[in-house]
Amino acid sequence: MASVLVTRRIPSSVLTLLGSQQTVDLYSGEGAIPRDELLRRVADKDALICVLTDRIDGALLEAAPALRIVANIAVGYDNIDVAAAEERGVVVTNTPDVLTEATAELTWALILGVARRVGEGDRLIRAGGWKGWALDFMLGTELRGKQLGIIGPGRIGRAVAAKAPAFGMSVVFAGRGKTARPGFVSVDELLVTSDVVSLHAPGTPEMRHLINRRTLARMKRSAILINTARGTAVDEEALAWALDERLIAGAGLDVYEREPVVHPALLKHENILLVPHLGSATRETRTAMAELAARNVLSVLAGGEPLTPVAS
Ligand code: DGY
Repeated sequence: MASVLVTRRIPSSVLTLLGSQQTVDLYSGEGAIPRDELLRRVADKDALICVLTDRIDGALLEAAPALRIVANIAVGYDNIDVAAAEERGVVVTNTPDVLTEATAELTWALILGVARRVGEGDRLIRAGGWKGWALDFMLGTELRGKQLGIIGPGRIGRAVAAKAPAFGMSVVFAGRGKTARPGFVSVDELLVTSDVVSLHAPGTPEMRHLINRRTLARMKRSAILINTARGTAVDEEALAWALDERLIAGAGLDVYEREPVVHPALLKHENILLVPHLGSATRETRTAMAELAARNVLSVLAGGEPLTPVAS
């Protein structure tokens, strides 16, 4: 029987699915599996089901000579050295599609939350600071008639865009070298003209600090920045500076440069809504993600094709 290491607790239905055909070694500790334990426990495994906090690099692949598949429970796979896996003939898979709607919904939660100052209002009430209704009290921004700029026109970006008409918003997209297509503009034009800028690009080295002092200064002073993709796309120190200087109106973040650490300068701002990497965090979606990872493993270990492979 082949053996599978699973680095996080997964729904019992998925464990049953896996365990019916494989030996499963489940890490059930709190938080991420420590690196040395990961290296030790993966050494004799045929398959690895991991999450985005596990670094799967050349050293890990070296330590696991029997490994045939690394199945990431995430659509992003910036935690995995895919080229190193390919060199060793190890298949890498991710979990696209099943988390698209959940992530798009969370993106809209952030857009609406920042535009209508939901976090700020909640904090005020809890602190006992609400003095009652007033005509000019805690005014936000209306979305109707505004432009949503989507950087990264993949599945999630498009799902976010699909909901824009319900809020009366127009949409423009920007992606690598795609300005010739209708609805697409350059990143610079998107930044300059959009009222809400939402990031949906993968966490590749080219995307690192796409949002920096220079690009923040290009945005409208009334604009809102949203990031539900990867934290590395935003220079957090630069974002704190832009909020200090009132270069943009607000921001909503689900992802961070050094999770779970959040740049302390961001915490003092009222006009930034911060949530702890919850994009795909619904019961339905997380179960579907774990199940897709398990199905990838079962298929590859049975000698079949992976369902959702990724390539370098
Ligand atoms: C992903 O799938 O990449 C998400 O960030 C996980 O929530």
